[in-house]
Amino acid sequence: MMRQWVKATLAALLLSSFDIAVASPQAEGLKPCGDAFYLPSKLSDPPYENYFYSDCRNISSQVVVTSPQPDSNLTIIGPRLLVAWPAGNSGVLAYLQPTNGKNGSLGIGLENFTSIQQPLMPIYESGVGKNPVVGVSGLLRVNSSARMDIAILGSIRTIRDFTEGPSILVPKIQDAIKYTEIRGGGVVLDRLWLDNVTTTTLSFSPTSKSGNDRMRIDNRTVFFNPGTYVFNASFNYPQLEQLTRQEVLNPASQSLISQNVDQTTSLSFLSYTNKLLAGAWRFLTYFGRDSMIATLLLQPVLSTGEGGAIEAVIGAALQRVNRTDGSVCHEETIGDYATYLNKQMNITSTMNQCDYKMIDSDYYLPVLMNNYFVATSIGKQRAKSFLSSPATAYFPTINKGLTYADTARITAEKIMNTSAPFAASGGQTKGNLVHLKEGQIVGQWRDSTYGIGGGRIPYDVNTALVPAALRAIASLSEAGFFPEHPTWKDDAARYAKVWEDNTLHFFEVDVPVSQAKSLVQNYVSGSKLPFPSDSSLINGTVKFHGLSLEGNNGQSVVRVMNSDDCFRHFLLNTTNDDQLSAFLNQTAEHILNPFPVGLSTDVGMLIANPAYGDNPVYAANWTNNAYHGTVVWGWPLAMMAAGLERQLERCSSSSKPAFCGDSTVFNKVKGAYNHLWDLIDANSNQLSQEVWSWQYRDGKFEQFALGSLPPPPGQSPTESDIRQLWSLTFLSVKRNEGLK
Ligand SMILES: *[C@@H]1O[C@H](CO)[C@@H](O)[C@H](O)[C@H]1NC(C)=O
Ligand SMILES: *[C@@H]1O[C@H](CO)[C@@H](O)[C@H](O)[C@H]1NC(C)=O
Ligand SMILES: *[C@@H]1O[C@H](CO)[C@@H](O)[C@H](O)[C@H]1NC(C)=O
Ligand SMILES: *[C@@H]1O[C@H](CO)[C@@H](O)[C@H](O)[C@H]1NC(C)=O
Ligand SMILES: *[C@@H]1O[C@H](CO)[C@@H](O)[C@H](O)[C@H]1NC(C)=O
Ligand SMILES: *[C@@H]1O[C@H](CO)[C@@H](O)[C@H](O)[C@H]1NC(C)=O
Ligand SMILES: *[C@@H]1O[C@H](CO)[C@@H](O)[C@H](O)[C@H]1NC(C)=O
Ligand SMILES: *[C@@H]1O[C@H](CO)[C@@H](O)[C@H](O)[C@H]1NC(C)=O
Ligand SMILES: *[C@@H]1O[C@H](CO)[C@@H](O)[C@H](O)[C@H]1NC(C)=O
Ligand SMILES: *[C@@H]1O[C@H](CO)[C@@H](O)[C@H](O)[C@H]1NC(C)=O
Ligand SMILES: *[C@@H]1O[C@H](CO)[C@@H](O)[C@H](O)[C@H]1NC(C)=O
Ligand SMILES: *[C@@H]1O[C@H](CO)[C@@H](O)[C@H](O)[C@H]1NC(C)=O
Repeated sequence: MMRQWVKATLAALLLSSFDIAVASPQAEGLKPCGDAFYLPSKLSDPPYENYFYSDCRNISSQVVVTSPQPDSNLTIIGPRLLVAWPAGNSGVLAYLQPTNGKNGSLGIGLENFTSIQQPLMPIYESGVGKNPVVGVSGLLRVNSSARMDIAILGSIRTIRDFTEGPSILVPKIQDAIKYTEIRGGGVVLDRLWLDNVTTTTLSFSPTSKSGNDRMRIDNRTVFFNPGTYVFNASFNYPQLEQLTRQEVLNPASQSLISQNVDQTTSLSFLSYTNKLLAGAWRFLTYFGRDSMIATLLLQPVLSTGEGGAIEAVIGAALQRVNRTDGSVCHEETIGDYATYLNKQMNITSTMNQCDYKMIDSDYYLPVLMNNYFVATSIGKQRAKSFLSSPATAYFPTINKGLTYADTARITAEKIMNTSAPFAASGGQTKGNLVHLKEGQIVGQWRDSTYGIGGGRIPYDVNTALVPAALRAIASLSEAGFFPEHPTWKDDAARYAKVWEDNTLHFFEVDVPVSQAKSLVQNYVSGSKLPFPSDSSLINGTVKFHGLSLEGNNGQSVVRVMNSDDCFRHFLLNTTNDDQLSAFLNQTAEHILNPFPVGLSTDVGMLIANPAYGDNPVYAANWTNNAYHGTVVWGWPLAMMAAGLERQLERCSSSSKPAFCGDSTVFNKVKGAYNHLWDLIDANSNQLSQEVWSWQYRDGKFEQFALGSLPPPPGQSPTESDIRQLWSLTFLSVKRNEGLK
């Protein structure tokens, strides 16, 4: 058994209060993460302070400490300690509140261990049971008397049900927490998971020996006196194997490690040998759409070959395909929450589950496979051996007997079958477009209640993802994939052309100039918004494509201007010249014009602008406090930049589209590309976050944390992830100086 680095474990606490032996990790000569043994010690997004600890082999932990700020809304923001682990999508949450009852009077924070001048230390104990006990230890400062009424130990999903749902607590899970006072004045909370094997432990113990800060438990409430406490959070679940920064990037991109320490370290923290994770902390596990979009954008820098990042992503998706209908898994359910959901169905099992409600994830898979297995030489070499691998790691029983080739084919069959009716002669009807699944109100990336306004037929899926997937299937088929379907190389290409050319018009919205001016003015005055309407900038018909069809309240098109044009620009080389010129022209107008005329703000390109909706519900449902409202996401900035670049680059090829020769449109698109990059550069501090909002102050839009704003009526508060996989794509998407 290895010498323990830190003996601040339960056993040690029982023996002494704060007599922890610290061995410098460097001294052990174990530095698989290289210089980033500790990740950037702190990432600040007030009121959230994020800390990471990873050794790239046995321990990956994120700690988030929330403490109210002077401008915090004290109904929403309270003191909170959270620890998240990728293994089993697990974590610990503890809510503190002032014992005097006055919200805002209690502040908490982490302090450095003096011996190492770092806020976190690893817990690693092998030899205790089948799995080692791993976790983190830190010093928590509590500045006034506090009580902890609520702690959740187990799955991040259980934690999210509480923080994002209507404060759901499951008695069966909560009642299993054991509270124990220990020698030295500390307390230990531990809970045996529903699997009867894993235990999560959270302990606190005072650092002073005076006895003044002894802790107390009364009826499952823990009381803290002001002081500094050692906390230990650990569990004994099998760990994942992280890809180091060297391992996640390809040989040609190793220099990014020193150029972009934060992003490459964050990427490594989210990358493991068998999957990439979507974000920290809320989505610290497999998500199909997130990992595939991120990989499409990051492909030029990611490691290839067996054990590399690209194959980890494709393999993770292929292992989770539903063999019955070919759907790609959106979100995995593993660990304690899987056992819990099984139990809800009266099944006693720890078996993994998958959420298949999204319709978009299917389409990214063939595009990704084509970009790797057909378009790169290493991919070409790897295809045969990769495809013959068993697809059983995630669903050993359910997917028994299937290889990657089988699950890839089953998904492609689903795509071919469901796109055929629209592609057939005379089949170009709204009814033949791809709809959300029955009974679901979400199905693509805008997956919140009003994300696409209740629409059944999403814009991105139908105008971009379906034809892009069909092009990819045609190309894969041409290269010898899907031998069971020899006609696909022609069929899929034919379908793709029909989908490319005949879907945009369903979503088109044209607003005549005078109506557009008054809508924008009414939007600002009607909702008492603090910024100017800039309506004088409107000098032509405003054109855009709505978010979806068949929306709430009988809306045939959901008339919200949006950033989803980026999918077509990034994923397709369409060949209908009139359509392409007008479409690029439209996107450029949206990017160049300030919100609410267009999408541009000081904090970046907004993903939605409801000003032209001509319906008060629009202004009420797409707000700056809604997850998919008038907010900025990192990845659409990257995909739009990459997409416009791809289209502009076509002008240097031998078969130039017509817009290249229309100097007005061409220059406008180039102008939009550079304006977008100016916005990206001006917001470099928050680009790696999932999503951010704004406040309008002193004539400017200023960045503001989404989770600090009260949620829209009837919706839950949404806290942004400090680091999101697909927001790290600026590692590969860069401004093309040749397009200045
Ligand atoms: C990490 O885990 C491996 C395998 O369990 C073990 O051999 C090694 O000692 C651990 N590393 C540390 C630093 O404890
Ligand atoms: C005090 O904060 C808690 C959350 O920390 C919240 O539930 C409660 O509503 C707040 N009370 C007031 C009066 O804002
Ligand atoms: C902890 O130490 C780091 C240097 O490792 C320093 O930058 C940071 O300010 C310290 N934090 C506190 C709270 O003292
Ligand atoms: C765990 O143990 C309890 C009590 O013995 C039992 O009811 C339950 O089915 C077990 N759960 C699993 C997943 O084995
Ligand atoms: C313990 O707390 C629970 C709710 O948190 C309450 O219902 C119960 O009455 C309390 N018991 C005592 C003895 O105070
Ligand atoms: C696959 O989808 C079918 C419905 O099409 C469903 O009945 C089945 O449970 C799904 N499989 C898994 C593993 O979730
Ligand atoms: C599970 O069993 C309980 C008690 O027998 C029953 O009420 C419930 O309907 C069952 N749930 C399912 C999903 O079968
Ligand atoms: C319309 O407005 C844009 C700026 O928003 C300007 O560049 C363009 O010249 C104007 N066109 C006409 C015809 O006034
Ligand atoms: C580009 O957009 C402007 C403003 O809406 C419009 O006047 C012009 O006709 C458009 N050009 C093309 C080629 O669509
Ligand atoms: C948002 O839209 C839904 C559906 O149209 C509507 O029921 C709801 O009232 C809207 N919300 C607000 C705050 O207007
Ligand atoms: C579009 O064409 C460019 C060359 O002009 C090429 O680099 C790119 O891969 C093509 N994209 C697709 C999706 O076919
Ligand atoms: C604070 O949040 C509550 C709960 O969402 C909300 O009702 C209230 O309006 C917010 N206060 C401010 C000043 O925004």
